[in-house]
Order: sequence, then structure tokens, then C-alpha cells
Amino acid sequence: MKKIILTGDRPTGRLHIGHFVGSLRGRVELQNSGEYEKIFVMIADAQALTDNFEHPEKVRDNILEVAMDYLSVGLDPQKTTILIQSQIPELTELTFYYMNLVTVSRLQRNPTVKSEIQMRNFEASIPVGFFCYPISQAADITIFNATTVPVGEDQIPMLEQTKEIVRKFNATYGETIVEPDILLPKNSACLRLPGIDGKAKMSKSLGNCIYLSDSKDEIAEKVRNMYTDPNHIHVKDPGQVEGNTVFTYLDAFSTPEHFSRYLPEYENLDALKDHYKRGGLGDVKIKKFLTAILEETLEPIRSRRSELEKDPEYVRKILLDGTNLARETASETISKVRRAMKINYFEN
Ligand code: TRP
Repeated sequence: MKKIILTGDRPTGRLHIGHFVGSLRGRVELQNSGEYEKIFVMIADAQALTDNFEHPEKVRDNILEVAMDYLSVGLDPQKTTILIQSQIPELTELTFYYMNLVTVSRLQRNPTVKSEIQMRNFEASIPVGFFCYPISQAADITIFNATTVPVGEDQIPMLEQTKEIVRKFNATYGETIVEPDILLPKNSACLRLPGIDGKAKMSKSLGNCIYLSDSKDEIAEKVRNMYTDPNHIHVKDPGQVEGNTVFTYLDAFSTPEHFSRYLPEYENLDALKDHYKRGGLGDVKIKKFLTAILEETLEPIRSRRSELEKDPEYVRKILLDGTNLARETASETISKVRRAMKINYFEN
């Protein structure tokens, strides 16, 4: 079967290195693998509005930011269709039909929705639009016939919900919709990169992110302040690598080439970890190493981004073309859906 990718991000801020290791880097690999017939990457502005409806300017401003992040990490508009969710009205229609297939109690049990309701203090008054976003996300995925959804582990419940909707739809109206599979990052450190403060999640609201657009000095400063092992006070002390943010980042970013380039006295990351655990290896040294790796990784991204910033019209054109192309597929799927649901009254 031909394989098709759909994935996306909410445009509520610039993308950070958690996005990079958790999804962006993998998307570029998938794009260049040649294994996929089509790749759709969605800027999910309508979903972003479900919990930012009072801040339309924030969502609007971040569309171009996210698009520039995509292009600067290496998404190639010749190979990957980048689209804006709200400009595909067929998505709203499909969402509306899917709503019949989901119960309120099922949505209430969705772990991602549950934790987001807590995070946003929505307990007392959950907007219906927000509550239904997993249904809309099922439409996002299935309208493009996606077989494969590369996302972080926080999206597992969304994919489960999507699969249920697909099965229900196909069982009720006949085989119409493609059932997608999730594709998680292989490296477990990349599943969810902690913030620089060691907190479980890198998030804009916690102020603990390293952004793809951060300058060299900002990166160095953030790594200097990074959370390590609070009990590793003197260089000679034995240190802990589990839960030590610097080592988690090294797990996510370092390669054997980085060792031969910057720390040839260590064979690999395991050797570095062993020394840290034994004692005698200071935080300054591991932080310098991490800074060099991050700078090497982010410098080309930053410089491509600064080129793109000079030409917003070019970026806008890519979004327009991508959205128009995506809409062709969306409208084919909607025709099939209407036929299956017997609401194709005016079709010959
Ligand atoms: N919910 C995703 C996030 O918060 C964004 C998203 C919207 C998405 N629609 C999608 C991801 C469809 C994958 C597939 O990051």
C-alpha cells in the first residue's frame, strides 16, 4: 500500500529543540527516505484557536514563524506539502460527521484532553471547541488518507481516538477511511525532551526552552544554567546521569563524530557517563561539550532561517501553494465520505 504521512503543529510559538528531536528531525529523514508517496505537514491554527480563541493575533503571527522553522530545518516544499488547517473547510465538515461517532464520556477519558484541561484551568468551563479537538485531529489525519503519523508520545491518545473513529465510520458506512498508525521517535531521549530546568516538558509557558532561532550566546547561556545533578557539587564527586538534563540532551543530540571532534579522549557517550558516575568529571566540561554540539546542529538552521526572514512573501507563497494542493485531496475524501453517508444528493 502506498504510504502517506500527515503530521502537524499548533502555531502558538516558535518551535524549539524539543520539537526538533521529537519530530522535525525525523520528518526531514522521512521526507528524504523516498518511502512515502506524499507528506503533509499541517500548521494547525484552528486547533491552536481552541485554547487561544481570545488571541487570534498570536496564532496568526506564529503561522509564518512555524513555516520558517519548517523550512529552515530542511522540509522541502517540493517533497512536503505544508498547509494551513483553517483554510481547508472540508476539515470542518468531516469533523462534524465524526462528532456523531464519539461519546462525551470517551472524550472525557482522553488522557491528553484530561491533562490539558487541568493545565489550562478549564475544569469549570471547558469550551466545546477545545473539548472536541481530538475529533478534529482525527479529521486532519484521515482527510489526507494518512497511513503514518509521526508525532511525540503525548499524541498517543489522539491516535487511539482517531483509530476508533475510523473503525466506527467504516463499520457504519462501509470501508471508506484509511486507518493510520503512529510513528514514534526511535531514541527514547527524543520522545520528550525535558526543559533546561529539568522539568518534564519543554514548554513556552514554563520558559525553559531552547528555540531553533536562539542565538549562539543564548544557547551558551541556557546550557550554562542547565539543571544537572544537584548533589554533584565538586568535580571529584560521583554524579548521576539519570534525570541529569545535560546527559538527556547528549542522549538526544550527540553522535560518535561529535566525540572525535570535541572530546576525543572519550570513546563514546557511555565512556563519558561512566567517568561522570565515577567522579572526577565536572559539569563545566560536559556543558561545554553540549554547547558545541547544539551550536553545530543549530547554526545552519539559524542561518537558513535568517535568510527566510528577509523574504516573507516567499514563505507565504509556499503556504498558499501547499494549502491549495492539500485541498484537492481533502475534497476527494469528502466526496467519498458524502457518498458513503448517503448525503451526495446532487451527485450524478
Ligand atoms: N495536536 C498536535 C500538537 O499539539 C498538533 C496537530 C494537529 C497534529 N493536528 C494534527 C499532529 C494531526 C498530528 C496530526 O502538537
